[in-house]
Amino acid sequence: MASLYLILLTLHNWTRWAVLLAGVWALVATLTDRAGAHRASGEAAPAPRPAFRGPVAAFMGSLHLQVLLGLALFALAGMNGAGVFGDGPRSSFQWEHLAIGLLSAVLATLGNRAAKSGAAGRNVAVWVALAWLPLLVMIPWWRPLLRLFGPG
Ligand code: HEM
Repeated sequence: MASLYLILLTLHNWTRWAVLLAGVWALVATLTDRAGAHRASGEAAPAPRPAFRGPVAAFMGSLHLQVLLGLALFALAGMNGAGVFGDGPRSSFQWEHLAIGLLSAVLATLGNRAAKSGAAGRNVAVWVALAWLPLLVMIPWWRPLLRLFGPG
């Protein structure tokens, strides 16, 4: 059970980078989207599927994966009667981590829905930014930046 926990923790650690990088990719793609400018200048309508759809979907998907891994960690720890984030700055950190993680996943999902419904890039960028920024305060930066299936 302990080794399964370590495997999931390591995957959760790596997926953090996928989430952060996909978020930056989605932000850049939405903010540099030219579709709004086309419409404003009266030019012909752009292609129906804007280029930022993929990056935004990747950001949402990586966050969903991270939520699943995180909930599995909570469940495994709970089954063993163990706590999580015992090394955290305060005892409420585990709930802040959980709540912000869930909220970001919801916001990214709303951003993905906006992207699919044809919203302009800069509007989708607002959802992506709202989902991405809070992650910076919920990530336990004191933990290994790249865990390699070992403790601490
Ligand atoms: C609802 C969503 C989430 C839940 C339930 C969750 C849960 C957890 C749990 C239980 C741990 C292990 C704590 C311990 O062993 O003491 C953990 C660690 C961690 N979480 Fe999350 N998490 C979530 C979302 C996220 C997100 C969105 C990110 C970053 C994008 C993230 C990044 C991390 C990192 C970097 C660690 C430390 C990993 C390590 O020690 O190697 N988590 N999380």
